[in-house]
Amino acid sequence: MKGILLAGGRGTRLLPTTLAVSKQLLPVNDKPLIYFPLSVLMLAEIRDILVVTTPEDVPQIRRLLGDGSRLGLRITYTEQPEPNGIAEALVLGADHIGDDPVALILGDNVFHGYSFQEILRQECRDIDGCVLFGYPVRDPERYGIAETDARGRLLSVEEKPAAPRSNRAVVGFYLYDNDVVDIAKNLSPSARGELEITDVNRAYLERGKAKLVDLGRGFAWLDAGTPEALLQAGQYVQLLEQRQGVRIACLEEIALRMGYIDAETCHRLGVELEKSAYGQYVISVAEQFAAR
Ligand code: TTP
Repeated sequence: MKGILLAGGRGTRLLPTTLAVSKQLLPVNDKPLIYFPLSVLMLAEIRDILVVTTPEDVPQIRRLLGDGSRLGLRITYTEQPEPNGIAEALVLGADHIGDDPVALILGDNVFHGYSFQEILRQECRDIDGCVLFGYPVRDPERYGIAETDARGRLLSVEEKPAAPRSNRAVVGFYLYDNDVVDIAKNLSPSARGELEITDVNRAYLERGKAKLVDLGRGFAWLDAGTPEALLQAGQYVQLLEQRQGVRIACLEEIALRMGYIDAETCHRLGVELEKSAYGQYVISVAEQFAAR
């Protein structure tokens, strides 16, 4: 399965901070925001990842993540010259997707929850159609909203509805079979001039091939698109990391535990960052792993 991490956009709700820096590079407590969606792809055993971002942001994101080989990944980059919508990533990434299924994740989404890795493992297997993930929100008119019947079957998906039919938002992580390339290529821009991911999802729904997996209220899904949300994401991560002594979305640790790198490599990556508490953590994880 291929991965696409969409990290472009204008970040207008975070101006002036995003005048010179990509939203996805802003810190969430101890690490850049983009680490969070990247960690989700890594946990889903997706190692071949295309980052789609603005022409200005490619050099900076590349400086951070490189070609991914340090983490046992393959990371490549494609420019999205204008923010023409989330679904455009599937058109720009068609060659990368090739004949495979694909997971698309938004660069400003933070996921954290019990047995998420197990959910990912289960849902990424044998994809036939599309898999969407739902999460209850207080302000459904701001999101893509999914309506289900009493048995949890998906009935409709609507983008930012004025009169929402449910409070279940479709989160920024989507799994598609290979039909998505054709579906995305045949989309027409919406009234706001964008290729809408909701239209892709609706095409699957019309074919009877869209599934919604409820992440439920025990789960945390945060999008860090406003100053308040970015701060809250940082506070959430800080609280858990301080309380539990473990780190969320530590890429080196995930690469080690998933078997993408060995303990020696992980230790070396930690030493490069050793002046920070994050680096110290990576070193201690590598040492504990080696001593097992
Ligand atoms: P949004 O938060 O919808 O848009 P934005 O990041 O431009 O921010 P704002 O609304 O404040 O102007 O985007 C969600 C994610 O998708 C974010 O990580 C950026 C990314 N994105 C793109 O990369 N290209 C696009 O064309 C769009 C619409 C979003």
